[in-house]
Parts: sequence; C-alpha cells; structure tokens
Amino acid sequence: MSKQQVKPSRSFASDNNAGVHPQIIKAIAAANDGHVIAYGDDPYTARAIKLFREHLGKDANVFFVFGGTGANVLGLKAATESHHAIVCAETAHINVDECGAPEKFTGCKLLSLSTPDGKVKVDQIKPLLHEVGFEHHVQPRVISVSQATEMGTVYTPRELKVLANFAHDNNMLLHVDGARIANAAASLNVKLKEITKDAGVDILSFGGAKNGMMYGEAVVFFDQSLARDFKYTRKQGTHLPSKMRFISAQFEALLSNDLWRRNAEHANQMAQLLARELRKIPQTRITQKVEANGVFAIVPKKYIARLQKEYFFYVWNEETSEVRFMTSFDTTEADIADFVGLVKKTVR
Ligand SMILES: Cc1ncc(COP(=O)(O)O)c(C=O)c1O
Repeated sequence: MSKQQVKPSRSFASDNNAGVHPQIIKAIAAANDGHVIAYGDDPYTARAIKLFREHLGKDANVFFVFGGTGANVLGLKAATESHHAIVCAETAHINVDECGAPEKFTGCKLLSLSTPDGKVKVDQIKPLLHEVGFEHHVQPRVISVSQATEMGTVYTPRELKVLANFAHDNNMLLHVDGARIANAAASLNVKLKEITKDAGVDILSFGGAKNGMMYGEAVVFFDQSLARDFKYTRKQGTHLPSKMRFISAQFEALLSNDLWRRNAEHANQMAQLLARELRKIPQTRITQKVEANGVFAIVPKKYIARLQKEYFFYVWNEETSEVRFMTSFDTTEADIADFVGLVKKTVR
C-alpha cells in the first residue's frame, strides 16, 4: 500500500461516513447509459416517483434534492412566511447543525424545546400558542420532528398522530426530518406510510445518504397545495439537480426489493449489539433508549482519545463525557467485537 493510500477502516462517527451500498453503485452505473433529458424529465425519475407513491401513498408529491439540509430548509420554506415560527427539539438538526440555514432561508424563528430524549411533546408546545394572533409575536406554523431523532429514539405512529392532530387543530403543520426515516420504520416494524401519511405528516424530508445512497434526499408533500410552487422554490434554493437521473436511479434501487429496510434493519441491529456489549462494561453507561442506529453512552474522558484513534466517534456532550456511536448498513459484527475488545482493554 502506498503512503497516500488510506487504510480501509470503519468508524462509529456517522452513518454518513459509510460508503455506498453496492446495489446503489450498480444502479448509478446502469443509469450511466446514453443521454436523457436533464432536470428530472427522464424515465428514472418517473419510475422512482412511482415507487415513492407505492410506499407513501398516491397523494405523495415527491421532489429530489441534493442533501438533507436542503430538503429541510426548502420543505419548511414551502410552508411558511417569515413571521412564522418553527417549533422543534433543542437537539434538532435544523436547530444545531444547519448553520442557521432554516432561519436564513425561511426567515422564521425557531422555537426550540428542551427534550431529554429528542422527542417533542404536545404539552411543551401548548404554552407557545398563547400569543397566536398577536402581532408582536412570531406565529407558530410548523412542528418539526426528527424521525429517528438525533438521540437515537423513535416516535411511534401514535405519538406522531398526537402531534399531527394537535398541529392541525391549531392551524399548524407537521414536518418530519426523515434523514433516518428508514431506521425508524425498521425499528417499529411498520411500513413507511404508517409513520408518514397515515400519521398525519404534512411535509417529509426523506433520507437516502444515511442508508446506503451516495447522495440525494427527497422532499415529500402530502398536500398538493404545499407542493404547488415547490418547483420554483427548489430551483431558487439551488437544489434542482441537472443530472437528476443519478439520484432517481439510487432511490429506485433503495426502494426496490426492500433494500431500504434491509439496510436500516442491519444498522439498527448493529446498534443493539453494540449497546448490549457496552452494557457489560461497568465503566460505560448507555444514556438513551437504543431504538435506531445510534448509541449514546457515558465513557470516562480519560479513555476517549485513545478509543477515537482506532475507531473514530464524536463526543456529544463534553461536560458529561457522553459520546455518540452511529452504526450503518455496512457495520459488521467483527467491527463491534473489535471495538468492544478495545474498550475493555482501554478501561482495564
Ligand atoms: C437528523 C438529520 N437531519 C438532516 C441531516 C442532513 O444533513 P446533510 O445536509 O448533511 O445531508 C442530518 C445529517 O447529519 C441529520 O442527522
């Protein structure tokens, strides 16, 4: 191996650090055949949208974009005006990891709620509605939740329905940041439609990259009126991919033969295995329910740097020494055995 070559390795830093599933690579290569009309007027995009509708219902209005931040920002923009507010968890990606893009592009204020498990509850939102109609205050318009959450937890269909009903009773909409929607559906053992359309979700960012795609996400509206001008919003928001067929072909592969579910199930199972093994090590403590592909744990500070050298992962909370381990479609049992062995050796 030359000096320039990087040793193939895996980490627990992020499901975005994983490569691309071989079937997705195959789909990209197969789509690389001749010319088709650019910007989505092609057979790959038509077939991918048809598949989305099979999974999410025939009313799904589907738009492909490059990435997850773009999906969130533009989906939210379609539903808001700048005097509105978007209610979300303090830990929400839109609140902490999008460099203020939702505020910049929607003009809305984000009202963030403290949520120990990453899940927003109706009782927390109620006090924010006291000033509805009062011109001195922003007007809550969207509840945005992440499914699975940034804390590795999952909303049940019932919990989503409660949020959706509350939103609709109060002239609001429910947005789901579904960067890990597949992990949530696999965890709950439900169809994608049961935690989106059937649960009353209005706007969905549907993730691809964290579940084996190279890049590409979808914005889905379940209400035609929200989708009406979205083609302009997407273009103005710089997320209209010219060679759209290569995103569409990936989604076609992901949504066929249950690849989306198999990838997500595997990642979730690897998180369960990692958590089971870490629970046997008294120096570490799991801090969240492990419901998707994230494991949160307290690991004494003095050991972290050493562990990170071999298997990189992020410290979630410096103060409490809580770290986050993410598993992905390509995490293996051997990776986990190796890492757990390293933890045991390090804390001994
Ligand atoms: C919950 C959540 N939403 C959205 C995203 C999308 O981010 P990106 O813009 O990097 O694709 C991420 C990525 O880390 C995420 O974790």
